[in-house]
Amino acid sequence: MAVKKNTKLLDALALKPLESPPIWLLRQAGRYMPSYMAVRNKAGSFMNLCKNPEYVSEVTLQPIDQFDLDAAIIFSDILTIPDAMGINLNFHEGKGPIIHNPIRNIKDLQKVSSDIISDLSYVSEAIQLTKKALNNRVPLIGFSGAPWTLACYIVEGHLTKNLQVIKALTHTDSYFIERLLNYLENCVIDYCKMQVAAGVDVIMLFDSWGGMLPYNDYIELSYKSIERILNSINIPTIVFSKPCSPWLESFKKLNCNGVGIDYTCDILSAKQVLSGHKAIQGNLDPNLLLGSKHKLDLAIESTLKTMQDIPGFIFNLGHGIVKETKPEMVKYLVEKVRACSKGINHDRNK
Ligand code: CP3
Repeated sequence: MAVKKNTKLLDALALKPLESPPIWLLRQAGRYMPSYMAVRNKAGSFMNLCKNPEYVSEVTLQPIDQFDLDAAIIFSDILTIPDAMGINLNFHEGKGPIIHNPIRNIKDLQKVSSDIISDLSYVSEAIQLTKKALNNRVPLIGFSGAPWTLACYIVEGHLTKNLQVIKALTHTDSYFIERLLNYLENCVIDYCKMQVAAGVDVIMLFDSWGGMLPYNDYIELSYKSIERILNSINIPTIVFSKPCSPWLESFKKLNCNGVGIDYTCDILSAKQVLSGHKAIQGNLDPNLLLGSKHKLDLAIESTLKTMQDIPGFIFNLGHGIVKETKPEMVKYLVEKVRACSKGINHDRNK
């Protein structure tokens, strides 16, 4: 059956004016959804789920079916690349990812295969299945971690507060860090190209740990690599870094279509720097979904008021949904954003 093609996300990324902003949510499929937990339990573990294309396609569509969002994001993780490097990755409930064999010197790196992309063909298969299942209903977003953020996990081995090991190595063994980042950049380029060939409509790069670096180090160790990766991708792109505030001016110069704004950033300052140049995606605090509807309403109204007069706004969270979120709050959020946008546009046309 022919379905009406929803191109709102692509239109926003092309800075076309829209009646209401597209809305999708970081980590929109996940543990807060009973239907996701049912599939994850069948899969046995999070990585088993990521590696099963049928299950991936099923959970990718769940939030589209249940909340009527304007974009799907392929269900996967940024740690698929480190996993394919053979670092022995596990996810422990409450502790996040644990890497049992971190890579901390050039010898460790030399043991890693130079071609890991063929081991990631499960992602390509999952994208092809999901595209078919979506039948053009909404665009499908593919993604990768940026090299610096992947390196943080690969070197540290788990989530750390201050990234002491990798930050020290940038000074004590800069040769190794350069080689590792160069290796990862090539993997990310090939991985994104594989996803584009499989059919994704947009690529998003997550540099979640970019914000942990001093300004100049960020430009050298992360930004320049992101720039080269973006130049190798020929479909619309979104870049996310946390916190993003220090680098808004730099992001304005990147060859990307959209910038993901994290919840620490004042969206008005993002608008002042980026509007007319980049689509702006964000940035509701995910914890607002745990509080009262009244506080959520105020935050939605304030964001929409700030962003109503520019093209290219994409409503999203400023980081991933937390697992304590009630699904009915997500439904409420989507409906409220649509209802409020209509009100605002109506006022504007008076
Ligand atoms: O947005 C989506 O719906 C697509 C799926 C997606 C996941 N991870 C699923 C996931 C995406 C885009 C990611 C990106 C990701 N993964 C990032 C970048 C964005 C960010 O959050 O900063 C990072 C840093 C990771 C690494 C990662 N994966 C961590 C730190 C964790 C543990 C966090 C936690 O909540 O336990 C994961 C696991 C993970 N990735 C889960 C999901 C749904 C939870 C796993 C589970 O089902 O047990």
